[in-house]
Amino acid sequence: MSAAEIGVIGLGTMGAMLALNIADNGFSVAVHNRTAARIPEFLEKAGDLAEKITGHAELKDFVQGLASPRNIILMVPAGDAVDAQIAQLRPLLDAEDMIIDAGNANFHDSERRANEAEKAGIPFLGIGVSGGAEGARFGPSIMGGGQPAAWDRVAHILKAISAKYEGQPCATYMGIGGAGHFVKTVHNGIEYADMQLIAEAYGVMRDGMGMDAAACGAVFDQWNEGLLQSYLIEISGRVSAATDPETGTPMLDMILDRAGQKGTGRWTVIESQMLGAPVPVIEAAVVARNLSAARDLRLAGSEAFGSTADAMPSGALSFGELEQALIAGKILSYAQGFELLTKASADYGWALPMAEIAEVWREGCIIRSAMLNDMASALTDAPERNLALAPYFANILKANMAGLRKVAVTAMGAGQPVPALAAALNYFDTLTSARTTANMLQAQRDYFGAHSFERTDNDGAHHGPWLDQHLNG
Ligand code: 6PG
Repeated sequence: MSAAEIGVIGLGTMGAMLALNIADNGFSVAVHNRTAARIPEFLEKAGDLAEKITGHAELKDFVQGLASPRNIILMVPAGDAVDAQIAQLRPLLDAEDMIIDAGNANFHDSERRANEAEKAGIPFLGIGVSGGAEGARFGPSIMGGGQPAAWDRVAHILKAISAKYEGQPCATYMGIGGAGHFVKTVHNGIEYADMQLIAEAYGVMRDGMGMDAAACGAVFDQWNEGLLQSYLIEISGRVSAATDPETGTPMLDMILDRAGQKGTGRWTVIESQMLGAPVPVIEAAVVARNLSAARDLRLAGSEAFGSTADAMPSGALSFGELEQALIAGKILSYAQGFELLTKASADYGWALPMAEIAEVWREGCIIRSAMLNDMASALTDAPERNLALAPYFANILKANMAGLRKVAVTAMGAGQPVPALAAALNYFDTLTSARTTANMLQAQRDYFGAHSFERTDNDGAHHGPWLDQHLNG
């Protein structure tokens, strides 16, 4: 067989699916896996596509099996495994050969790897790939980072294997260094927020309205026909309708309420704090996962205080109001995510293509939704404007905020936690405050630390009469 056009290292679920996708799009692909036994298993399951794939148990044979200059995709667990794999590969590669890290890397790691590669004069790409196993196999959303020339070299392959939105590939170059993985990280932060908002709506239906899982699923199915149309609402309907084959009860009711996480949502929050670009809905979603994981503490709390949650009086909330709450919460959390991207773009000198980010998320990725197309339009008009202020979304917010307020207040009144919905509401109420209470903070800072404040009537730094008046008083 002639030399392969591209290589994939790592035949875990994502790597295996990506290799099949590449072969399915007509490219010849070489594969390698640390545990060599996985390679023949994979080839056997590849069916007809195996004709386009060559497996190599030895890393040096894998490298030799690639056409020069080589393009090698790494799909190994993010972190140390990537550095270890790069260290093993480098001595076997020529100067023009390129490594493409397609895992969920921390963007700081991608920045470092890109810098190291640049110093050595070799190409490197860090690409965010979203869409889970199905996306990897049939079309993921791809967010690229690295030198433009490195991207251009493999863009035809990445665009071919990506999801398509009305024929347009969902694979876009975001910027140098770690830009692609930064955008993927924020994608995941938004994913956490979307999921938590949906989970809170489910909680209101289950605990406040006394609905069973199938009934909740029917409501999600209905919402999927409207403004909320999205992959996450669609699968929420599906998981709500599923039955546990072992017990015959709704599958959801058999799943322990302890959420896992690999850390990308947390990274979004850490980066937002470092950049001073708050993402409170995403933050609430990460905190909610952490508190869900502290199950023993929650059980002790529930025993000590009894459950604080009451069923809501019948008719307290309508499905229409719940839908409104989700619509408003979703817009506000995306507004925060895009604000974070805008701030990062300026601070890291990336010039992130804001409208194209919304475009690349329209298909293939986990947060794909109808609303992203309208977000792309709003960001095309004004890439740095907060999405909540874009006329189209401002009108939707005006029509839906009453629902968000009523749902958050009613749920909290009934003792039901709705941290992401409440965070969205508080963000909106702060965003629309011409006068906040930060004058009190400034007075306190000046009192104890002489940090000074700005005056409402005069420029410059000022101090208050604290000591005089305190001593005289
Ligand atoms: C995607 C997903 C994917 C994965 C993450 C999130 O875009 O395809 O975000 O990357 O599901 O690892 O997982 P956690 O919920 O475990 O953080």
